[in-house]
Amino acid sequence: MSNIIGRCIGETSLVEVSFISKEMPQVGEYVSLKYDGKNVLGMIESMVRGSVSINDDIFDPKTIEKIKEIEGDDHYIRGTVRILGDIKNNLRIPRTPAPPGTEIIPASQDDLQKIFQKKNSLSLGTLISQENVEVKVDLEKMFSRHLAILAMTGAGKSNTVAIVVDGILEYNGCVVIFDMHSEYNINFKHGQSKLIKPEINPLYMSFSEIKRLARISKGAFLQERYFWEAYKMARAEIQNGDEKNRGFIRIMKEYLEGWESGKLLFRGQDVEGTKQIVDVINKMGDLERRYSSIINSSAGNILSKLELGKANLVDLGSVDEAAAEVIVSHILRNALQNNKKWLKEKNDDLPLTHPVFFVLEEAHILAPKNRPTDSKLWISRIAREGRKFGLGLCMVSQSPKSIDPDSLSQANNMIILRLVEPQDQRHVQTASESLSEDLVKQLPSLNIGEAVVLGLMSRIPALVKIEEHKNKEFGQDLEVIDLWKNHKEDKQKKYEKEKNDVINMGGDY
Ligand SMILES: Nc1ncnc2c1ncn2[C@@H]1O[C@H](COP(=O)(O)OP(=O)(O)OP(=O)(O)O)[C@@H](O)[C@H]1O
Ligand SMILES: [Mg+2]
Repeated sequence: MSNIIGRCIGETSLVEVSFISKEMPQVGEYVSLKYDGKNVLGMIESMVRGSVSINDDIFDPKTIEKIKEIEGDDHYIRGTVRILGDIKNNLRIPRTPAPPGTEIIPASQDDLQKIFQKKNSLSLGTLISQENVEVKVDLEKMFSRHLAILAMTGAGKSNTVAIVVDGILEYNGCVVIFDMHSEYNINFKHGQSKLIKPEINPLYMSFSEIKRLARISKGAFLQERYFWEAYKMARAEIQNGDEKNRGFIRIMKEYLEGWESGKLLFRGQDVEGTKQIVDVINKMGDLERRYSSIINSSAGNILSKLELGKANLVDLGSVDEAAAEVIVSHILRNALQNNKKWLKEKNDDLPLTHPVFFVLEEAHILAPKNRPTDSKLWISRIAREGRKFGLGLCMVSQSPKSIDPDSLSQANNMIILRLVEPQDQRHVQTASESLSEDLVKQLPSLNIGEAVVLGLMSRIPALVKIEEHKNKEFGQDLEVIDLWKNHKEDKQKKYEKEKNDVINMGGDY
């Protein structure tokens, strides 16, 4: 038969077979092995090409030339196929290995389409090896088991996010994108984007969030004590309705200034002139100046602004890392606490009464491996318990090795585009049980927009050409040479104009 790719050789196992072929199949291509009444699906994971006569024992290029003249290009292909399951038996791994000599044939398009065609699914693109097979993944499983989109810079992460978000909007879902580079304000096919101003009422901030913004250092216990006391007093005043529109930060400062000048007693004691209080007052001043755009004492609960069927964009492009951490932590913490109340106490009178999917760009900054941050705390909590409370996470990063491993390992679903750095590859492989050594080896050779798709959302691992999002070209490289050239031309034109103006006025140039 002409469509036989090759035949199994050597000892075969339940999970892997080796084959020999004369054809050149593609890595990632699906194949079928028919034996014992089964139709077993497999994926070509690795290949080498060799020649029996041109082997390692030849040391003279002239001998090779002569062999080539006689034999031509008589090569063989040796490869491995990973067994994915019996198509006739709901993709269960068969209980008997394929007999050596079993034919390996291409999997039928019909079978593949049935496997990727699902209810409640989201289309990512097409198979790299079979372009007419659309790859759809299970949206419910993507949501409940979280997603990681990992790749080196420029490989197509943001484009993939846009495709995923569009797929969720098709189901009137609610997506929140923490937009670290202000790049997602685009037209989605299935819904609009909505800009959510990253404003927080300090009254709703946790102590640790406001402390982070005020930059009270870790070991500064005295400063922390004054800061904590002022924070408590301000909360109490506002809760008692005594604040007279002064605002949270103002009230904190009034207490600190009162203790510093001796007008107020600190816990019944006089602490006038303490340097540590002066430091805290200065830090409060810095906080007000630095974060005037995100701190708003009249801001309501940010969760009530989130809309269904929209890509809610929290634009973090113009804030610093500390503010981004605090805003992300604030929103995730509130969402988790809110949804626990909604689902456990059946309380419907809440700002949020539906599931939300959070997209975290630069996940290695928001949930770093080696540094404790507030955002990391809540990212890892949602990664662990979010699925019970209708909160899904999508972590996006170009540096998987720098992401908190606890959070990353909770992302059961992965879309991995081109990834070259060996440490990143190892990290991704540790986090995902289903990424084999052979698939890892494919990661550096993927082209832009090509990805390995893994996890519960996809019944079988797939090499996918992610669809290109039509509404915007993401992250185009700057055409630096043109920009420099234009700059020079503009300068020259300006000079010529000035020169002509002077000459026209009758002057010498
Ligand atoms: N699936 C795709 N098909 C065709 N072109 C693509 C695809 N994905 C990305 N590109 C192109 O590659 C470029 C980079 O894509 P993108 O901005 O999504 O990469 P990125 O991984 O998010 O980069 P960064 O690390 O800078 O955020 C864009 O110009 C985009 O048009
Ligand atoms: Mg990007």
